[in-house]
Amino acid sequence: MEKKKQISMAVIRRLPKYHRYLRELIKNDVDRISSRELSEKIGFTASQIRQDLNNFGDFGQQGYGYNVKELYNQISYILGVNKEYKTIIVGAGNIGQAIANYNFEKSGFHLTGIFDVNPKLIGLKLRDIKVQDVDQLEEFLKENSIDIGILCIPKNAAQRICDILCNNGVKGIWNFAPVDLVPSKDVKIENAHLSESLLTLSCLMNS
Ligand code: NAI
Repeated sequence: MEKKKQISMAVIRRLPKYHRYLRELIKNDVDRISSRELSEKIGFTASQIRQDLNNFGDFGQQGYGYNVKELYNQISYILGVNKEYKTIIVGAGNIGQAIANYNFEKSGFHLTGIFDVNPKLIGLKLRDIKVQDVDQLEEFLKENSIDIGILCIPKNAAQRICDILCNNGVKGIWNFAPVDLVPSKDVKIENAHLSESLLTLSCLMNS
């Protein structure tokens, strides 16, 4: 596989949608698709699609469209979909429990540990995983090589936990706390804010 190119954040944000639609096309035995047909399905303009997909090599052929399988494989590779990740959740409240109960395993994200400070939650089992005292987090990280930390804790606790994760080998943080975390190492942070998405909807409805 060739070396990964630098791809803009805007394109990266659109990739999961391409990935989802291409998977559907493969399921429906579609081998090739034009940017115009893809545009009708996905909702991006045909020229946007051509520009985006140009980033990944020459999959389109004038008049023949894109090779669906090759494009899907390349986007899977860029998304890191074929990899396996070990994850932990810090904060076993509303959001932490919802995420623990959702099955991300099938996408390669394996939940390995859950941590909280609340004695009422410590010992509770979520999907066969016992909630542990957050005091044990550092030791757990040293013993298990964890790729992703999912932060579902109040914002005033988030930076401290972020530091612990960064200093103990975690490579990415999926942050639900409403705070801009500063990683102490080269750790990638993705903020997931439902309220921002809701405000975007409100803006669309009012514009
Ligand atoms: P929650 O109060 O139900 O759960 C938070 C959990 O974190 C509690 O169980 C608490 O004991 C635990 N906790 C507190 N300090 C901790 C620490 N130092 N280490 C480990 N665990 C700790 O709150 P909820 O509703 O689950 O929200 C969690 C976070 O997500 C909050 O920061 C909230 O503001 C934020 N939030 C984010 C949304 C988003 O779209 N990103 C939407 C709603 C809430």
